[in-house]
Amino acid sequence: MRESVHKVQREAESQLASILSAEDLEAFRLYFLGKKGRLAGLMEDLKACPPQEKRDFGREVNELKQFLETSYESKKEASGLNPVQADSLFDDSLPGIAPLAGKIHPITGTITEISSIFERLGFEIVEGPEIETEFHNFTALNIPLDHPSRDSFDTFYTASGHLLRSQTSTVQIRVMQNRKPPLRIIAPGRVYRPDTVDASHSFMFHQIEGLMVDERTTFSDLKGVLNLFLRELFGSQVKTRFRPHFFPFTEPSVEVDIRWGKGWLEILGAGCVDPAVFEAVGYDVKRVQGFAFGLGVERIAMLRHGIQDIRLFYENDLRFLRQF
Ligand code: PHE
Repeated sequence: MRESVHKVQREAESQLASILSAEDLEAFRLYFLGKKGRLAGLMEDLKACPPQEKRDFGREVNELKQFLETSYESKKEASGLNPVQADSLFDDSLPGIAPLAGKIHPITGTITEISSIFERLGFEIVEGPEIETEFHNFTALNIPLDHPSRDSFDTFYTASGHLLRSQTSTVQIRVMQNRKPPLRIIAPGRVYRPDTVDASHSFMFHQIEGLMVDERTTFSDLKGVLNLFLRELFGSQVKTRFRPHFFPFTEPSVEVDIRWGKGWLEILGAGCVDPAVFEAVGYDVKRVQGFAFGLGVERIAMLRHGIQDIRLFYENDLRFLRQF
């Protein structure tokens, strides 16, 4: 009789040590303290035991009962295994933890917006490398060897004789070297110039290049496409001005301004592709015509959002970036 009490006690002790979950604890309770559990079995034995043993046996069963109950209770409290208790820790009136949602950078947003206007006009978006050759950045674009923009004060050169492109016009050359007209492309990307950084200059900024080449693509096409683009971007009321300019790779060349307050603001450079550029890429200058343009993305983003300092785009300050 006494033996069976000790056996149940030892069994309970070993099971207590391995209780890890609320389920384990409940299984323990049912097995030892449940209606048909081990303790209930011993109670049955107690009823049936001879009167002379009843006192001692009864005391031991009682001690075991206390042991089982206090073990169960303390395990429940110490480990927080009681599922009812765990539930009470969940307060559904507390505010949730909002995940940090990302946003589109204003430069990327401006590039996407501009590109999509040209996509609707049938232009295709292409990209080119940022590390370039002198041929793609200068020579093929009809920029003479002694041109000031080739100077190391105006272009980053690498030790291997390459350079960081100073304009996206390089992509015009790469596309024409690999494909035949007709072409309508837009090439957004980073360009680099060793300018001292201030509120309106950065050693790295973004440009979008455009190129259209076909058998007959005239200055009127250039004007039509760019006027339409500027109306899409700045609203149908925008006033534009095409001002004569010079670029080595276009002839004639223009700078295009928009009316801004009481003055004019330069928005982009453009022109008809110079025959020297067609020659450099192996096109038959008698059979093709084209126009090209290039614009600065930061400048347009600053105008549209009223941003005063170009450096804000690159500082990764969330207080700035969250506003877009
Ligand atoms: N590449 C010129 C610049 O960086 C812009 C341009 C592109 C002008 C294409 C004419 C044609 O200033």
